[in-house]
Formats: sequence, structure tokens, C-alpha cells
Amino acid sequence: MAASAPDLAAMGAAMAWSWLAGELTAAAGSARHGLHLLTLASVDDDGTPAARTVVLRRVDASGREIRLHSDVRSPKVATIRRRPAVALHWYEPDLRIQVRIAATATVHHGDSVAAESWAATQAMSRASYTTHHAPGTLLDSFPEAPAKPADGDDAGLDHFAVISCRFDTVELLSLHASGHQRVHIHVDRTPVTWDVLAP
Ligand SMILES: Cc1cc2nc3c(=O)[nH]c(=O)nc-3n(C[C@H](O)[C@H](O)[C@H](O)COP(=O)(O)O)c2cc1C
Repeated sequence: MAASAPDLAAMGAAMAWSWLAGELTAAAGSARHGLHLLTLASVDDDGTPAARTVVLRRVDASGREIRLHSDVRSPKVATIRRRPAVALHWYEPDLRIQVRIAATATVHHGDSVAAESWAATQAMSRASYTTHHAPGTLLDSFPEAPAKPADGDDAGLDHFAVISCRFDTVELLSLHASGHQRVHIHVDRTPVTWDVLAP
């Protein structure tokens, strides 16, 4: 069945969050899902905004946490450690939804969270953490792809970091020809509530 925009008016706040959390959870587990990739925005030390594509790795709806993976040497990790306010953004054209989350990020490196996530990471993904050059290093030529490590090879673990993003609210915009539906969902409340906003 073709996906279509959710009718938020028919759902209510709790059901809308439950539906979205289900989609995000599915997206973390499938590279084919339209929400698998997102934009992570942060603010550099001088106030310049910086945005980049990342992979959605894990969603804990009740804990209000989204996890991403990154190379600890990448500039964003140092930035986020100093300025943990980040924004997460998705647009999914089949579902015709935009999702925006303002979050506070924590970097896990060399701890149990990083170790557990590493253990669940596939060899193909682990390969990118074995590179000699840190992300953003100036090079004389394009590098070759890193070799796929053998199962159980922890060579990249020293460079592997988990970015944990915690949040209290989620903004969801659902596009409909009959009238767009935009809500600010308070997912930290029991029951979940929302504010309806002009789109
Ligand atoms: C499809 C796609 C997926 C990506 N996934 C990730 C990711 O999960 N984590 C990550 O750190 N960078 C990822 N990147 C690379 C980032 O977009 C970015 O180029 C790199 O992390 C350097 O960012 P920085 O200089 O802001 O630290 C991805 C890029 C693309 C195009």
C-alpha cells in the first residue's frame, strides 16, 4: 500500500507521537525507510550553523532519545561537546511529513554505550572508523575505501562515538492539499499533548 500523509486531526497527540515513534524506530532498522537519513545541525564555536547528513541508528521513544554514530575525530564531535544544543531534521516525501527535533546531545566515546553500539554495528559500517586520516583532513588525492574488517575486528573502536540526542518536544508537519497540519508535540508529558500551529 502506498504511503500517505498521516491525518493528525484524526489521531490526536498521543496517537500521532506513537505513530511517528513507530516510523522512526522502523527507520533506524532499515536503510530503505525514508526517515533513515536525517540532517543534524549544530552551532560552531563562532556561532556559524553547520548541518550534515547522518544515519538514524537508534530510537528510544519512551526515553526520548535518538542515537547517531560518528567518528570521534570529526569536527562536529568536538563542537557538540562544547555546544550540545543540536537540531534534527527530516523530510519524508512519501509520507509528506517534516519532523524537527531540538535536542541536547551527549557524546559517548570509550564507554559502555559506545562499546554496546559498536558490538551491534556491521562490519561495513565499522570500516569507516579504521581510516588513517581524521574526517576533514586535507588530502593530496581521493582516498581508497577502507577494507571491510573481519567480524570481531575492533580496529575502529578507538574512533567510534555515539551521539545521544535527548529531547522533550517534537514538531511534526503533515502536508495535505485540504490543509497542512503542524503540531508541536510535548512528548515529555503524560498524557502526551500538542500545540496546533499555523503551518
Ligand atoms: C548518506 C550519508 C550518510 C552519512 N552518515 C553519517 C553518519 O551516520 N555519521 C557521521 O558522522 N557522518 C555521516 N555522514 C557524513 C557527514 O554528512 C559529514 O560529511 C561528516 O560526518 C563530516 O561532518 P563534520 O565535518 O560536520 O563533522 C553521512 C553522509 C552521507 C551523505
